[in-house]
Amino acid sequence: MRRRNFLLLSGSGLAAAGLAACGGSGGGGGESGGGSEVEVFTWWAQGSEKAGLDALVEQFEKDYPDLTFVNGSVAGGAGSAAKDMLQSRLQAGDPPDTFQAHAGLELADYIDAGQLEDVSDLYDEYGLTEAFPSDLVELLTLDDEIYSVPSNIHRSNVVWTNVELLEAAGIDPSAVPSDVDAFIADVQKAADSGVTGLSIGTTWTQVNLLEAILMADLGSEAYNGLWTGETDWNGAEVTTAVGHFEQLIALTNTDRDGLDWTDATQMQIDGTAAYSVMGDWAVASFQQAEWEDGKDFGYFPLTGGEAIFGFLADSFTLPVGAPNPDGAKAWLDTISSQDGQLAFSLAKGSIPARTDVDTEEFPAYQQTAITSYAEDAISPSLAHGAATPVAWLNEISDATSKFTTGASDVAGYQEELATIAEKHASA
Ligand code: GAL
Repeated sequence: MRRRNFLLLSGSGLAAAGLAACGGSGGGGGESGGGSEVEVFTWWAQGSEKAGLDALVEQFEKDYPDLTFVNGSVAGGAGSAAKDMLQSRLQAGDPPDTFQAHAGLELADYIDAGQLEDVSDLYDEYGLTEAFPSDLVELLTLDDEIYSVPSNIHRSNVVWTNVELLEAAGIDPSAVPSDVDAFIADVQKAADSGVTGLSIGTTWTQVNLLEAILMADLGSEAYNGLWTGETDWNGAEVTTAVGHFEQLIALTNTDRDGLDWTDATQMQIDGTAAYSVMGDWAVASFQQAEWEDGKDFGYFPLTGGEAIFGFLADSFTLPVGAPNPDGAKAWLDTISSQDGQLAFSLAKGSIPARTDVDTEEFPAYQQTAITSYAEDAISPSLAHGAATPVAWLNEISDATSKFTTGASDVAGYQEELATIAEKHASA
């Protein structure tokens, strides 16, 4: 089987260490094999995500003044609308010049379908092999060929708090709940004070919550085993996790299915929701609202005792048949350069994938992410393409939506998750 095991990735030695040096690998050319326009396909269409993309575009325009960035973004968090649209375009032979894809098994889908060009020569040309942690490059490699270039690393398993609402509910905002039961007790307390306990959005944000609970309840080893067939989806630990998921969903806003992550975070900023569980792109929204870390908002990983970093990385590709491959390579140069990685992560709430970016000026939250990525156990994100191919994630999403809309019960949901795993683990 060609599918590689995500779990080559380990925390140690992967620190986004602070080594100052300046300049990317170059740019400045503006040479283009297919005109001056470069269409970049992402789902960073609004709010703080758009601000992150804008930071990259600014750097791109500095590096390649003769090229014109064309924004091919499709709104919808986690690519919830973009991925289907991209698939139709790829199948119709109408690829953008470059598109966003997660490192890990999501990328394997595109590789297996023959939709991506090998970009290993760019790793040599731009000096990227040494710049990225080797375990991360491994996730982008198949049969010795490298298929994308990472722009950043995000963490998926973070609880965000509205400090004022916690205080009003009699919860110490600086205390980190020791396990999921303790967290649920606090969310219940917040809900009892008259606000939404936990704000959440549509299906993918619910899957993001599920994965954070699974990581906390099972621990990294057993969680990681869910994707390799080593952990039994019918087991008691998963039953506990699914039960916790049910309890937490009952404490969320009932209009969730019509909302994206941005709306759920906005509920906290508006003072109507105490908690959310979301990837750390959420910090960029708090920062954009000029909320003060520790005074207005707080954060901690959802934990069952073990320190786990829920891992995902955005990366960019060179699709087969891209109209402007040279323009795409220029984009890949900018997003992989020190300047590009610094500008992007500062705006996006992520941390650089390169290990040689000076991260001293990063805000407090990102400093915690840098430390945690270096020291904690690493677990691949389900909702963000690291743990499974898209087909497996889609089926989990459908089962989750069935459950949260009341069309299945806890036992039925767990059974369905187990059946899906059986099918994909043996695929
Ligand atoms: C993730 C992506 C992040 C962020 C998030 C919300 O899948 O990796 O960069 O954009 O979705 O849309």
